[in-house]
Amino acid sequence: MCGIVAYIGNKQAYPIIINGLRRLEYRGYDSAGVALHNREDGNMHVYKRKGKVQELVDFVKKKPIESTIGIGHTRWATHGKPDNINAHPHLSGSGRLAIIHNGIIENYDSIKKALIGEGHSFTSQTDTEVLIHLIEAIQERDNLNLEEAVRVALSQVVGAYAIVIMDKENPNQLIAARKASPLVIGIGDGEFFIASDATPIVEYTQKVVYLNDEEIAVVNRDGDLTLKTIANELKTPFVQQLEMNIEELEKGDYEYFMLKEIFEQPTSITSAMAGRINAGEGWIKVGGLMSTYDKIAAAKRFIIAACGTSWHAGLIGEYLFEELARIPVEVEYASEMRYRNPIIGTDDVIIALSQSGETADTMAALEMAKKKGATLYGIVNSVGSSIARITDAGSYIHAGPEIGVASTKAFTGQVTVLALMAINLGYERGRIPRSYYLQLISELERIPEKVQTILEKNDQIKFIAGEIKDISNALYLGRGYNFPVALEGALKLKEISYIHAEGYPAAEMKHGPIALIDENMPVIIIANNKSAHEKIVSNIQEVKARKGQVIAIVTEGDTVISEIADYVIEIPETDEPLSPLLSVIPLQLLSYHIALMRGCNVDQPRNLAKSVTVE
Ligand code: F6R
Repeated sequence: MCGIVAYIGNKQAYPIIINGLRRLEYRGYDSAGVALHNREDGNMHVYKRKGKVQELVDFVKKKPIESTIGIGHTRWATHGKPDNINAHPHLSGSGRLAIIHNGIIENYDSIKKALIGEGHSFTSQTDTEVLIHLIEAIQERDNLNLEEAVRVALSQVVGAYAIVIMDKENPNQLIAARKASPLVIGIGDGEFFIASDATPIVEYTQKVVYLNDEEIAVVNRDGDLTLKTIANELKTPFVQQLEMNIEELEKGDYEYFMLKEIFEQPTSITSAMAGRINAGEGWIKVGGLMSTYDKIAAAKRFIIAACGTSWHAGLIGEYLFEELARIPVEVEYASEMRYRNPIIGTDDVIIALSQSGETADTMAALEMAKKKGATLYGIVNSVGSSIARITDAGSYIHAGPEIGVASTKAFTGQVTVLALMAINLGYERGRIPRSYYLQLISELERIPEKVQTILEKNDQIKFIAGEIKDISNALYLGRGYNFPVALEGALKLKEISYIHAEGYPAAEMKHGPIALIDENMPVIIIANNKSAHEKIVSNIQEVKARKGQVIAIVTEGDTVISEIADYVIEIPETDEPLSPLLSVIPLQLLSYHIALMRGCNVDQPRNLAKSVTVE
């Protein structure tokens, strides 16, 4: 949450920063701002606007933007409402220092009171302004250079931060630091780029350094990069090569990233399997699993920790590991797990699922489990992210950048990797026979082409969306492997169309939610389970008997449900453990079209942001 971009070098900073902020807008779009240093007048020019980056661009037109150094920010509001004043950058008391910040300074209130006691006054309600005042106060009080003052100040703050600071009197240097919020430095030819992730950097350089927690980087115009810890220990920067290309960051011919990402799924699922499966030769090998095989195979229990859509994928993981590998699984909301005192030991394996690899709650749950001696396994999309780095082993899902705030291809990538792991473990542990192992492998390899056939039903799904777009509520029902898909379908609808939706296990309906059903309540039933077909038919009859409108996701050729449901969307047949990979696709498209028809911005839904680096 919140996007940071900074530049120092010999190019014009403003276009690089604006371009980068547009790429990071998925992290927040409450306000945007830049600070630039004009060499001629020696002044720092700060421009800030409530709203999206475009509002800032419109505001800055015709204003002086000449500068080869600058910092920029796109905000997801935490402290202080979204307005021009609370927008970043923020200035120190003298106006000499400017800061951009992602994270939360938890003890800002006590620091602020102390600073007010010393005569400071503040213009915004933000914790960020307090931090830059503190840095300047320390600098003046202890006669320190900026880097030293940043170090001392950061040792006094509690909370999370990724910051970049610019000094009007030293326009040849930027100072960056991180703790629990991501920051990456791109190393160009005599220039540096600093950003919350690599997307603003990749078109300029492939060489990057990911900052670790409590590290401070000083980058100078002469090309010098110094890395130290807050404890003043010198570190050698670990330079990595980016694996990302610029086309992945563009919408191409699609109107929205979300639609592009939904349509990318045949490719992204294939990428999640690449090198890990071979139906011809009859094997699955998951590299990360092999490297920790002894610990994983000996695990008493898997605990899957995640948030949101990733948590839904984790629930499918529970069904997969328990059924195929016979390993007991618990699925935890990371935000709850971190504050309980769960019983975790050295023979537990914690599997963290995260698209961004930066979700604060998931990171905190992992840190806690690490202290308790558990083995940590990450299933992550963002290469080099914090979760990827803290885990003992893991598997990237290789979905490519996911920019639409509503997660789609990351979900199917996560489920694909979980399926690969469960099948692999099930076979290695002798829990599934070779014939079933081979069947699942060949079926998994066919999933991308089956997803493609569902995507070809886009027009039909759009038609159904048009029929129900004016609803105020929706109920999603599913059984077994498709219960988590019902939860995911409901989440997709509510987050991008603002329609209230709930997901339930289909059989739970009669324990309460059935009271909601009348002619105004559409019920979306995922009905492609082979094992519970008759029971699902009964559930549909129960809904119809109460005049509910039924939209059913069924297996091709299911004439029974087709006769009783109001609308059916047919999807190809597959083995039940893999069925979520197909049944979720029409639900993603349905939500997309409903949201669009209601005039919602599907890529940037209100109040939301991707990469939730705050609690
Ligand atoms: C929903 C969505 C969120 C994320 C959640 C976890 O569409 O995107 O619910 O799934 O914030 O994020 P990651 O997977 O990055 O840890």
